[in-house]
Amino acid sequence: MCGIMGYIGSRDAAGIVIKGLECLEYRGYDSAGIALAEGHKIGISKCVGSVANLKAQLEKCSLNGKMGIGHTRWATHGGVTRENAHPHVDPDGRVVLIHNGIIENFHELGEEFAQKGVRFASETDTEVAAFLISSLYRDDPLLAIREACARLRGAFAFVILFADIADRYYCVRKGPSLVLGAAGGEAFCASDVTALLPYTNNVLFMEDEEIAELSAEGISLYGFDGARKEARLHLVDWDASMTSKGMYPHFMLKEIEEQGNVLRRTLAGRLEGGVINLSAEFPFSDEDARLFRRIHFVACGTSCHASAVAGRLADRYTGLDVRVEAASEYRYGNVVCDEGTLAVFVSQSGETADTLAAARLARIKGARCLAVTNVVSSSLGREVGAVLELRAGPEIGVAATKTFMGQLAALTLLTLWIGKQKGFLVPQKEKRLCAEMARLPLKVEDILAQGEDVRKIAERYQDLSAFLFIGRGISYPVAMEGALKLKEISYVHAEAHAAGEMKHGPIALLDKRMPVVAVAPRDGIYEKTLSSIQESRARKAPIITVASRGDKDIRRFSDDGFFVPETEEELTPFLTVIPLQLFAYHLASILGREIDRPRNLAKSVTVE
Ligand code: M6R
Repeated sequence: MCGIMGYIGSRDAAGIVIKGLECLEYRGYDSAGIALAEGHKIGISKCVGSVANLKAQLEKCSLNGKMGIGHTRWATHGGVTRENAHPHVDPDGRVVLIHNGIIENFHELGEEFAQKGVRFASETDTEVAAFLISSLYRDDPLLAIREACARLRGAFAFVILFADIADRYYCVRKGPSLVLGAAGGEAFCASDVTALLPYTNNVLFMEDEEIAELSAEGISLYGFDGARKEARLHLVDWDASMTSKGMYPHFMLKEIEEQGNVLRRTLAGRLEGGVINLSAEFPFSDEDARLFRRIHFVACGTSCHASAVAGRLADRYTGLDVRVEAASEYRYGNVVCDEGTLAVFVSQSGETADTLAAARLARIKGARCLAVTNVVSSSLGREVGAVLELRAGPEIGVAATKTFMGQLAALTLLTLWIGKQKGFLVPQKEKRLCAEMARLPLKVEDILAQGEDVRKIAERYQDLSAFLFIGRGISYPVAMEGALKLKEISYVHAEAHAAGEMKHGPIALLDKRMPVVAVAPRDGIYEKTLSSIQESRARKAPIITVASRGDKDIRRFSDDGFFVPETEEELTPFLTVIPLQLFAYHLASILGREIDRPRNLAKSVTVE
């Protein structure tokens, strides 16, 4: 969950490391720190708060160096204090280390050191790793790291400086991602490829249980067994401009507004001649597809909501036994999952720990696995092997928006493709859906053009502290996504319920201080949703609706409404989610929240 950046080369390392940390700050922003090596002298600066604080602190001191490592923290073990910020150093000052992950046996190891009279300066699990490596280090850094890794349990990405080695630094991966880059006498490492893009897009995604040595000569790669491995770089087709805010006040708004183009990219080449064509990307034969009996969609957070939309489509079009589950539940459940199961793992980052663990489990059980991700070379992509790419471009805002849109598109294509192989999607319906999917980007942009109206509505609700979102069928996951967006960036309480469940409890909450946000496009169950709206209104709840344009009936029961263009009912989530993203954005902005970096959250949840 933390952000890591490392550099060695001929330039001033501080500037490069700070710039990298700024780019990675979405991964954690409790505290930050940097270590700079000038010859054998290593200087450290750390502080509580953002990378901007660290930058200001650094300007006041005279730390320099051509080699440096930096960290932006999302606290797990130990509070948010300067002492707990990384880098951490062993008592003799021989090893300086930053870490992303969790060391599970740090208590046990800490005890051993404590018995020898060693005192820890922090409450973190990380410091023990610096102590351990230092205690094992004689003159071979690789050996010390390997021996330490053999004793550490848990998940860790480390970047390590040795005080007596001035021309190299080391990276270790077991779990959380680390990406390396090398070009023109410089070598970089970062938690995420976006931080490397200003310097190179030739990168190496470290595999689990690898150690890398980075120097001006490039990258040397080793396994935990000490065997040398080939350091093969890959070209990523993202560029640095994709990771800048441009003229937008926040990444979230920029990313919401990119959604028309995200759809164009995700659909490109996959909708041809009015039919769906995934034959080049779907890794299983037509025969395999016909033999599937079950389909599982497994994901976390927003990705799970996109999966729930896909689950409803799969119910309708595939004839398969469908299961949609949060990865954190799936991995510990006794799920029936075998060679007749297509298990689809959905993750924008491809680094979410629970989703990765669930994918490993399904693979072991013999399921046919597919990753739907924005980062093809992510851990999930490599774990699963078969990937359907979102093509949404890098997403920086912690609140997922454009990747949700990409997921809806990729999962709709996938589900309909399977339905077609299974014979449940008839050609006429396929043609209608394809023609409408091709029109979606313009419809999305039409809604976005009314963003200011959403702001005016948000202003009217700024004093309320709780919202209830409802929807039925395919609109229920949209309600869940709307509630998640609102709570994560505005810190206003929001919960979502299936509209039909209101009478079974949630309706007790309603009064004039509890608005109901109803997702109610014109679909086959529209009238049922309308009844739930009326019941809520009878309890004096203010009603905000997301409805189809031209729906006069619903206006009569709404205090405020967002209207979206008509579309096929299976595709309504592509449109109805947008006003909810904008509502959350504007409410958070009116409340003065840190929109791109909401408190307590990190973009990639790489620990359990
Ligand atoms: O990278 P992933 O899609 O696996 O991430 C899953 C969730 O952590 C993520 O969707 C999270 O819920 C976002 N903050 C939602 O805005």
